[in-house]
Amino acid sequence: MSDTFTSYWAEAQRSLVGGVSSSFRINPFTDKPMYLSKADGAYIFDLDGNRFIDFFMGHGACTLGHNRPEVAEAMKKVFDIGFFAEFDHPLTAQLAQKIVQYIPCAERVRYVNSGSEATLLSIRLARGYTGRQKIVRIDGHFHGGHDYALLNNLASFVDLDNPGDKLSKVKHSSAGVPTKVDDTLYVIPWNNAEVFEKLAREKGHEIAAILMNPIDYNNGCIGSSTEYLQAIRKICDEHGIVFIIDEILSGFRTGLSCGHGYYGVLPDLCLLGKALTNGVPLAAIAGREKIMMKIMDPIDPVVAGGTFSGNLFGCAAGIASINIMEQSGFFVGWLKRASDFYTNLQTIFDEENFPATVQGLGCTFGIYLGTREPVRNYHDIAEKTNPALRKIFFLKCIEKGYYFHTDFTISAIHSDELLAQSLDTLRDVTRQTKMEMKV
Ligand SMILES: Cc1ncc(COP(=O)(O)O)c(C=O)c1O
Repeated sequence: MSDTFTSYWAEAQRSLVGGVSSSFRINPFTDKPMYLSKADGAYIFDLDGNRFIDFFMGHGACTLGHNRPEVAEAMKKVFDIGFFAEFDHPLTAQLAQKIVQYIPCAERVRYVNSGSEATLLSIRLARGYTGRQKIVRIDGHFHGGHDYALLNNLASFVDLDNPGDKLSKVKHSSAGVPTKVDDTLYVIPWNNAEVFEKLAREKGHEIAAILMNPIDYNNGCIGSSTEYLQAIRKICDEHGIVFIIDEILSGFRTGLSCGHGYYGVLPDLCLLGKALTNGVPLAAIAGREKIMMKIMDPIDPVVAGGTFSGNLFGCAAGIASINIMEQSGFFVGWLKRASDFYTNLQTIFDEENFPATVQGLGCTFGIYLGTREPVRNYHDIAEKTNPALRKIFFLKCIEKGYYFHTDFTISAIHSDELLAQSLDTLRDVTRQTKMEMKV
């Protein structure tokens, strides 16, 4: 890292906590933040103008490419309208109409500002709608930065003493989360419907909702199955439990219908953010009319509102993003490029006899270092993968101008040529890591 970076980081730390505005902004491989001077398409440029091919894409928010011209143009038009806060505009409902059109479970929409707010509101809505208190969370699933989410929220905070067939212990991942929160939740292992079935049989009358990701991209890439999600749907129906699917990260990666459309299962509520607007702040909760309308209950409403909710820039960006994604065949070429990349990268690892497994679904993928076998759950991550190898491998990628952070995305703008070039570099990195780490 250069003098410009070092002096800016030092300067930033004199005013910003840690020199950053989000604790997730410290790169896990370099242990430093990345400050940008510019981002464009599949590229990011640091403060010294060094160019990186970006596989992070704004935490998966910029799936259509950084600074996407159509999205930038839509936001410029907002200036012509004249921007304001705390009022809706016809663009507000226009985006909601598109969400209702394309997202299978969406009958009504309410906007919030971030994914964390969306998961928080969905929990409150389920509680208000059912009159019950308890929420079922999946051990290891990430849902943002509020008190009901900051526990058991990543592979590193999973209850590994649980072999996967019973309730997990609550494990806090942040100081300051009240222990009282523990009593409001049940945490269960993923992809085992029997555990949920048993819990619902015994405690269904207390359970307002179950919240899960349909595909876990926060821990690499681990999928679910139609059978499992259908079983959850059935149990929810039997016990009057609200089924919430968090599509903040999984949305618009496997197609316009998001993860639940991909698996063909209808939740009651889903949460959208990130790629909905290609990186412009806006998130949404969408779902069955009957539940969503609890927000407008004349007697006992679930309160859902905020100064910036449904902000015009976000709505304009969302419409522009969906206008792009709804073009016929748009996902086909993009997702084929992504899936070829995963296959070719795995071939490189195999040819180089390097212990690494690539898992990808849609445009987002994980690389598990230290194993040649599929990673199916968090026990596999803990037992089979090698964090030291992971760190060295991705550090080398970054040094060579390929940017990796926590989750990896191939944007619609990553061309065949760019991906071929990336594969050549990843082969070099593989050889160097193998020599250095003697694996
Ligand atoms: C699955 C999931 N849910 C919720 C969130 C929280 O979204 P936000 O960072 O917009 O608050 C994230 C963010 O990474 C996420 O990946």
